[in-house]
Amino acid sequence: MIDICLLGATGSIGQSTLEVVRLHPERFRVRALTANTDIEALFAQIREFKPSFAVIADESLEPVLLARVKTELPDLQVQILSGETALQAVAQDQATHTVVAGIVGAAGLLPTLAAVQAGKRVLLANKEALVCAGRLFMSEVERSGAELLPLDSEHNAIFQCLPYNKRYQPEVRRILLTASGGPFRGYTRAQLDEVTPEQAFLHPNWEMGKKISVDSATLMNKGLELIEACWLFGVSPETIEILVHPQSIIHSLVEYDDGSQLAQLGSPNMCTPIAHGLGFPDRISSGSAFLDLCSAPDLSFEKPDTETFDCLKLAIEAAKRGGSHPLYLNAANEVAVQAFIDGRIKITEIASLVEKTLKFAPDSEPVSIDEVIQLDGKARQHCLDCLNEIS
Ligand SMILES: NC(=O)c1ccc[n+]([C@@H]2O[C@H](COP(=O)([O-])OP(=O)(O)OC[C@H]3O[C@@H](n4cnc5c(N)ncnc54)[C@H](OP(=O)(O)O)[C@@H]3O)[C@@H](O)[C@H]2O)c1
Repeated sequence: MIDICLLGATGSIGQSTLEVVRLHPERFRVRALTANTDIEALFAQIREFKPSFAVIADESLEPVLLARVKTELPDLQVQILSGETALQAVAQDQATHTVVAGIVGAAGLLPTLAAVQAGKRVLLANKEALVCAGRLFMSEVERSGAELLPLDSEHNAIFQCLPYNKRYQPEVRRILLTASGGPFRGYTRAQLDEVTPEQAFLHPNWEMGKKISVDSATLMNKGLELIEACWLFGVSPETIEILVHPQSIIHSLVEYDDGSQLAQLGSPNMCTPIAHGLGFPDRISSGSAFLDLCSAPDLSFEKPDTETFDCLKLAIEAAKRGGSHPLYLNAANEVAVQAFIDGRIKITEIASLVEKTLKFAPDSEPVSIDEVIQLDGKARQHCLDCLNEIS
């Protein structure tokens, strides 16, 4: 029996993970579930999966959750905890084998890192953790012997196309990171100026949380993924080429020196990479629909439009510059995306806020996690100052 800690259980990744877990009651047991504020969803999950621990990150909500559990599930042996320290503690819990990192944003860094430091198998969806602190994070993976498996569908595809256990691949010529192009593919700047958050949330192929949906609409998500891939696979940004593939059937490719391109294909459903990570190295059922290539749409490919979707251009530049640029890029993007969701700015202003914030980014890389947290706070403040000037 494999004990699982699910960080971000109430989100899209969390719910997809529980869909896979439901299919394999003989194989997986939920040891810990965490959420930020969504008590309703967390309570329903506690009732169904009967974990040993449930953490609500927002400390003010702990008494509410506790009272609900005591009244409605009086016989259940579950410890209700709250706050950042509790998130880290359940990620390190001795009995836990696998930690699914499904928290959104830099908020996921410390709990995910805690799991890594405890040498867990870590299924990584929380790409922002690697964008913020890639080198420090990967050196902890090396030091602790944690097993890091990518859940992002593209990175999971690349992982499947690389021989296992050989991170550095001199014979890899290129990694082709596919992108759907998002809901606004083909739009002009003028058209983009008019789009609403609700339109941005409607991704053509994937159902995801709000933040990643907006990132997919601006193509910032692909930029964050490029940075994530550099750290995961030990390659330079120049090795990675972004390929727009609107059908999201090929999830990425690896090109070798001999001219071979290996690809992973499947229906666009996160349960497939999640099942791959949960079962690894076994293959287990995911519940995803099987792909029927005869009835699948024709596959098409194009280059990304980095002039219209300038968030992607900024992310590629930040990846190449290194230092604290990826950290500043991510922090500013989180602030700007929230401002767009709140109706304070247009989607096209996300890139201008990120660009303005990046001017403050130090060329040096943070040398400790404390410094990452400190710089993340500074970058957010710079971005908020720029935001207050325009809205
Ligand atoms: N969704 C996908 O298909 C997909 C695919 C690839 C990669 N990813 C990556 O996976 C991560 C999660 O994405 P998602 O779409 O699942 O996001 P989501 O639906 O917004 O869920 C986020 C989860 O994180 C929790 N959370 C938010 N802020 C938190 C905080 N400050 N402290 C602790 N927990 C917090 C949320 O709790 P509440 O529910 O209580 O707010 C929720 O459980 C992101 O990094 C994303 O880029 C997602």
